[in-house]
Amino acid sequence: MSVDVYGAALAADASLRAEYDDGYDELLDVQRWLGALDGADERLLARVAGPALDVGCGPGRLAAALTARGIDALGVDIAPEAVALARRRGATVVARSVFESLPDEGSYAHVILADGNIGIGGDPLALLRRCAELLRPAGHIHVEVGAAGARHGAVRARLHGADGRVGAWFRWAHVSAERLGPLAAAAGLTLVETWEDSGRWFADLRT
Ligand SMILES: C[S@@+](CC[C@H](N)C(=O)[O-])C[C@H]1O[C@@H](n2cnc3c(N)ncnc32)[C@H](O)[C@@H]1O
Repeated sequence: MSVDVYGAALAADASLRAEYDDGYDELLDVQRWLGALDGADERLLARVAGPALDVGCGPGRLAAALTARGIDALGVDIAPEAVALARRRGATVVARSVFESLPDEGSYAHVILADGNIGIGGDPLALLRRCAELLRPAGHIHVEVGAAGARHGAVRARLHGADGRVGAWFRWAHVSAERLGPLAAAAGLTLVETWEDSGRWFADLRT
């Protein structure tokens, strides 16, 4: 992501629009990322019982909530403003890419890819393989996907800030609920369950 436009939106609690090169665009949910857990977040976190890695943790609402519940949780994010906000919220975070070397690789019981973060890097199969590598045996990946029938595929994206600034293009991807199974299988993972909660779609993948 273009961390400057993204960081400025987080710092100002301002709106952020993503433009995709397939012609689609959408307002991103900055207020949800900066706000308190909602019901769907709560029910997602209720599934997380052991050491967890929150990939693309942003300003850290999930990682900080897990930490507050006494669950070992580490966030990882490339955006300095997001990392600073997450630390201020009480999350433990490493400021780097999920594709770089991370602490305690192979020991996580849960990897979280919330808020569409299955799109990180623009290659969901490579991301799922990387996440599988980070898990211990019988670990879970909790993925938030698009609705069944929603758009699916790799795109280039760029961010538009409320202040008129436009970031650089970066690789992203959308994964719709019904297209996750084959991707999971190709990554050596089992799709255990897919569910809808409050208009958001989630899946539980297991090693
Ligand atoms: C859709 S936002 C997620 C918001 C976040 N889940 C939250 O709770 O606020 C995507 C996040 O992924 C991060 N990101 C993008 N590429 C990344 C990478 N290669 N490794 C780690 N984080 C990355 C971005 O900086 C951004 O914070």
